[in-house]
Amino acid sequence: MILLYFLILIYVVIIAYFNLKYPELRWKWDSINDSNLKFPKNFFWGTATAAHQVEGNCENNNWYDWENSVDEKGLPRIKNNQKSGIACDHWNNYKQDTELLKKLGVSHYRLSIEWSKIEPLQGEFDQSVLNHYSDLISYLIKNNITPYITLHHFTNPCWFDKLGGFEKKSNIKYFKNFCKTVFSIYSKEVKNWCTINEPEVFSVMGYFTGIFPPGKKNPQLAAIVHRNLLIAHTEVYQELKKMKNGDSSSIGIVKNVMQFDPARRWNLFDWIACRVSDLVYNEMSFSYLKYGKIKINIPFFIKLFYEDKQAVKATDFFGLNYYSHIHLKFKFDKYEFFENVYLKNDTMTDMEYTIYPEGLYRAIQRVKLIGKPIIITENGIADKKDDRRKLFIRRYIYAMLRSIKEGVNVKGYFYWTLMDNFEWAEGYDMKFGLYSVDFENQERKLREGSKEYIKIINESK
Ligand code: BGC
Repeated sequence: MILLYFLILIYVVIIAYFNLKYPELRWKWDSINDSNLKFPKNFFWGTATAAHQVEGNCENNNWYDWENSVDEKGLPRIKNNQKSGIACDHWNNYKQDTELLKKLGVSHYRLSIEWSKIEPLQGEFDQSVLNHYSDLISYLIKNNITPYITLHHFTNPCWFDKLGGFEKKSNIKYFKNFCKTVFSIYSKEVKNWCTINEPEVFSVMGYFTGIFPPGKKNPQLAAIVHRNLLIAHTEVYQELKKMKNGDSSSIGIVKNVMQFDPARRWNLFDWIACRVSDLVYNEMSFSYLKYGKIKINIPFFIKLFYEDKQAVKATDFFGLNYYSHIHLKFKFDKYEFFENVYLKNDTMTDMEYTIYPEGLYRAIQRVKLIGKPIIITENGIADKKDDRRKLFIRRYIYAMLRSIKEGVNVKGYFYWTLMDNFEWAEGYDMKFGLYSVDFENQERKLREGSKEYIKIINESK
């Protein structure tokens, strides 16, 4: 009997500890005044896109192959067998799209350049593609739009994938070579660089859930790819800094942060599922960037140790992508140990997650511990009906401002995304765009809900 009481006591203490240490923040929105949001003078506003999602004709990368392949059951990889195709034809429409940026009143544009177009074969750089990006960059700057260039946003050239992609640490040299080449050409004009977009999403989706290419389901390999991407970031940072214009450039990594909250706050198994997920998804990068250390030991699944003290210095800013949190519920299943559940009072986005502005505040509180300036490099909502976008924009931006008022150095915000585009495994079904796109005739239209963004940009001045 005493033993039972003792075990109950231990259980209660552990649960109380988790509850206190990881509270799920909820604000009473009815009593919050989120009108008139005033920002510091130098705060900047932007929107973001990625090459494969908007440019069109990306036919030489892992995603193109993925879109044109089937799974083990013979089913298409992308919802309704959609293909990225010509996407928004941003390649040809960039001048018109620059006008869209100007209409919003943003001063910054985050875009990625497509490695597979620039270096379609190993070591062979396509001059016409390099010229295209030069034109695009100059055009943006001429129009007073500051570019933030992402060097890797989910896509690998096919030749790089054939060599094993980021599964092999020894392949990082190929990525470094690409980065050095483009940096030597564009760094005179481009002062802001994002090395890798979301190493945790790339590795978890590609190597754990298998929803992204190469569709593997191997937790140990997922962790190795994640680690290699972090190392790639550090090495690229170090190389570019040594080059001409390196000193005057700001180079950072972009990470997605998502909180894992337990579906039942009294259930130890739910908590374990959350803490393990957080370790692999978030803490791994945080610990690497803050201490230069990776230490993961999840028996039978992942064992990974790595140390490089230099990593701590190797980032000028932290690019934070934030969308939402999820609630995990443990289940006894041979293959999946937990499922996502949704609380009935929460408002869903069109993606499988809810509107949770407090989460952006929480994410910023955590990221600030790394001690680097923060830029919100992505934040946005998939909302086909456009009936939640307005609320989403104001509340998330309010949450960000709250952190700034408390002294956190958040320098700018990029809304994801400029216009509807190819949303990876979801195809064209998800409507994240401030502008809708009619993919029959490439017509762009500002959404009603997006006017809230314009309003906030004006208010903030
Ligand atoms: C990615 C984007 C994507 C967005 C919305 C981020 O994880 O960087 O490419 O479109 O989320 O799902």
